[in-house]
Amino acid sequence: MSKILITSALPYINGVKHLGNLAGSMLPADVYARAMRLLGHDVLYICATDEHGTPAELAAQVEAEETEAYCDAMHQAQKSAGDKFKLSYDYFGRSSSVSNHKLTQYFANILEEKGLIEERVSQQVYSNADGRFLPDRYVEGICPNCGFEKARGDQCDSCGKLLDPIDLIEPYSAVSGSKDVEIRDTNHLYLKQSLLSGDLLDWVNKAEGWPHLATSIAHKWLAEGLRDRSITRDLKWGIPVLNADGSKREGFEGKVFYVWFDAPIAYIAATQDWAEENGKDWKSWWRTDAGAENTKYVQFMGKDNVAFHTLSFPTTILGSGEAWKLVDRLKAFNWVTWYGGKFSTSQKRGVFMDQALDIAPSDYWRWHLMANAPESSDTAFTWEEFQLSVNSDLANVLGNFVNRITKYACGKFQGKVPEGGKITAAEEWLLKELNQRIPLLISFYEKREFRKAMSETRAIWAAGNEYLTQAAPWTHYKTDINQAAMGVRVGLNLVSLFGILAQPIIPDAASKILDAMNIPENNRSWNFGSSETIAHLIDALPFGHEINSPDVLFTKIEDTDVEIWAEKFKGND
Ligand code: 2FM
Ligand code: ZN
Repeated sequence: MSKILITSALPYINGVKHLGNLAGSMLPADVYARAMRLLGHDVLYICATDEHGTPAELAAQVEAEETEAYCDAMHQAQKSAGDKFKLSYDYFGRSSSVSNHKLTQYFANILEEKGLIEERVSQQVYSNADGRFLPDRYVEGICPNCGFEKARGDQCDSCGKLLDPIDLIEPYSAVSGSKDVEIRDTNHLYLKQSLLSGDLLDWVNKAEGWPHLATSIAHKWLAEGLRDRSITRDLKWGIPVLNADGSKREGFEGKVFYVWFDAPIAYIAATQDWAEENGKDWKSWWRTDAGAENTKYVQFMGKDNVAFHTLSFPTTILGSGEAWKLVDRLKAFNWVTWYGGKFSTSQKRGVFMDQALDIAPSDYWRWHLMANAPESSDTAFTWEEFQLSVNSDLANVLGNFVNRITKYACGKFQGKVPEGGKITAAEEWLLKELNQRIPLLISFYEKREFRKAMSETRAIWAAGNEYLTQAAPWTHYKTDINQAAMGVRVGLNLVSLFGILAQPIIPDAASKILDAMNIPENNRSWNFGSSETIAHLIDALPFGHEINSPDVLFTKIEDTDVEIWAEKFKGND
């Protein structure tokens, strides 16, 4: 048994997340956490809302709310969406917590003590109409490179060139549209990342178990040479910049830490809050001088987050010179697209977490998104594929199997596990399949290869159907009842095995199956240590054990549903 600390990238507070966000970090982290718990590991799965930054302020303005009140409400909304999707966080915290304020200020002070932070003056676009400095992507204007008229201050969408907003021609505020903008001097704290390039390179070179996507992004940035980056912003909402003694830092009134400086620190702060609320110890998860050297730390994120997790946050950790835990394994995902395009709230394109559950139960989404996880490339969501996942994998392969054999057992064997007859070629074939597939399935979970884990799960369900075809208890019933009983007995054991294996992916259906099979809660874990235990899987239920047939597990999706949904969520343009 090992200690496994799991974090999924913190969802931004502004707005409900779409299915792509869910599939790219929170859901796979949950599936992994559940699988590791079933294998008996001591798991701590932490997530939180990422609450600071300009988008939060602007979103609150749109709702005519104070930023803090807006964040309170959105945190609750995201927490409840996560609960409904059965995301089994041990703690869902907030980056705006007191603990994160303290810890972020602590890290900034220690980095400054180590000579890794300095104040620098830079130039930035100030909007008189908005009464604020504009973050880079909120300045728009004509691209100095290609003449595109709506270039963003950080990058031109037309020619792709990275820009400095002060170079835009005829700049204006993307917040208000006002052209009354000017360039002003502003001072900020800079983290001297360049000084740590060597340490970071050594660390990235030693990384094990990162997917190619993650190592290639980290190496690309390291090869370009890490630039010092400003870790403060001219904003009201965020974590204030203080001196080590807690007093206000002169010249930093109206400034806060950059959201990407404080957000990853919130992984630790949220763990502190979890510990505080539950009477637990957080240090054994995060401090290598307090037991965390034996913790395996696994992060889940979308590809746009990789640089922040492989370079920026590690700079904070390594730069502190203290015994903080660095990530051990990192799982990065490509995008789930909406028919190849972007999800958009304003264009009403795509399904968002709060709408999804009015369409189908969470298990359906969980299965489809994990079976099509965007691991090696972007994956386009389509209703037709969704329909296929539900109708074929869930309803036909798993649902029918469970239904067929449990109904038959109830009808012909009084809902009791019968004493079976002799082992035949069918059972031998089945055991061979299970002996090969179950260890493989576990290894895919351990390596966080979700598509493969799902496809192995599907293959195990399919082997169940194949077994029933071979054993055909309904054919033997009239001529050799013992032989029929054997098929039923093994079939019922398979139902319970399928329920046990399905728990990380489709927890609701798995519970329904296991409840119907009368499997006690404390007997649902994954004890598949050896081939004997696997052999035992097909006769684990004692003779006479009572079972029921569960209610319909999965309802098929009709073509007409697909037509309606395709129209409703296709977007306005
Ligand atoms: O990209 C995002 O959605 C960010 N909110 C992720 C932050 S992850 C972490 F470091 F906090
Ligand atoms: Zn351009």
